[in-house]
Amino acid sequence: MLPINPTTEKMQKQRDDYYATVIDSVGDGVIVVASSGLITLCNPAAEEITGFSKRQAQGALFEKLFALETTLLEMVSKTIRTGITISDHENVVVRSTGRIIPVAVTCYPLVMESGENIGAILTLKDITYIRELEAAVRQSDRLSTLGTLAAGLAHEVKNPLGGIKGAAQLLEREFDPESEMLEYTRVMIRETERIDHIIRELLELASPRGLRLAPVNLHKILGDILLLQQHAAAGREIAFIKHFDPSIPEIMADEEMLTRLFLNLICNAIDAMGEDGRLTVSSRVLSDYRMAQNERRSRMVAIEVGDDGPGIPQQDLENIWTPFFSTKSGGTGLGLTICHKIVQEHRGMIKVESSPGHGTKFTVLLPLVQ
Ligand SMILES: Nc1ncnc2c1ncn2[C@@H]1O[C@H](COP(=O)(O)OP(=O)(O)O)[C@@H](O)[C@H]1O
Ligand SMILES: [Mg+2]
Repeated sequence: MLPINPTTEKMQKQRDDYYATVIDSVGDGVIVVASSGLITLCNPAAEEITGFSKRQAQGALFEKLFALETTLLEMVSKTIRTGITISDHENVVVRSTGRIIPVAVTCYPLVMESGENIGAILTLKDITYIRELEAAVRQSDRLSTLGTLAAGLAHEVKNPLGGIKGAAQLLEREFDPESEMLEYTRVMIRETERIDHIIRELLELASPRGLRLAPVNLHKILGDILLLQQHAAAGREIAFIKHFDPSIPEIMADEEMLTRLFLNLICNAIDAMGEDGRLTVSSRVLSDYRMAQNERRSRMVAIEVGDDGPGIPQQDLENIWTPFFSTKSGGTGLGLTICHKIVQEHRGMIKVESSPGHGTKFTVLLPLVQ
């Protein structure tokens, strides 16, 4: 047996540690599969994406561990068989963590200097955030096309509608107070007013008017709305609760738009609660918030409007932002679409959490500095 050279052994260990650190530091998931199908390496980013720990993964059979991910299995076996590199940025998802993570995958052959193909190296990039951005862009596109269309239509309808309402009002005067016909004219007037309301909301949604920025006191806006709604909801057992963070400074924003935004959210909450409930409005500063993965951190204010109403069923949650989606008999379904637009114009974010039976919470994030 050759005597062990302590210096070489130490150097070897240092080199191994160095390579291990390099692979562990790669932000994308790296999994190495030997041609026998056994996993020989799995870095921390791969652990995070797949939900399998290094201990579970290393030494396990790739096709056993990823039995559900047929696309991944095909890629690995093809690379091992043919020695070619395969990429797929569209179709691969990883389900092992219990949630579905879309990933961009590339599978490289692991080739020895001699040319022998001894396995495959998989790199996995979590593209959840990219998918979310794509969805947001699609939603904005849809809204802006719809907005333009709606604005055109609204202009066309506005004048004849005025005519109908005027005529109905004239007609109303013609009948004597006892006449049954009076009820019909009132229906006509009421319904034209309803259409008028929808049209005004639509025009607002499509309005090209930009932001009119000025220093805005958020708590004053919220306080005024709450006071008004407290009056409107008098007679119902609704508790109005405020938790305001007094350290929030004035922010640069469009006061009229923010009023509309919070009025919409608060009215929705009150509508949802019916005869009794708790409406909670709170504000706080998030000092280290990152809107997107690569964006610099910025200070944001978070305003939450929460209610303990019936909540929003899971299947409705993604529709509530869509124009005309409403579950109310007199609803226009434009309120939240308008809210979404206002928040976007302020470079903020709006999100909803709701569990049926436990109420709903809308959170609006606005940058402290525009
Ligand atoms: N706080 C809430 N609790 C329960 N459902 C809500 C709440 N806010 C909004 N929704 C749901 O979202 C739908 C769309 O809201 P919105 O766009 O404001 O239109 P509208 O109020 O005219 O129905 C509502 O019809 C309702 O189903
Ligand atoms: Mg509404």
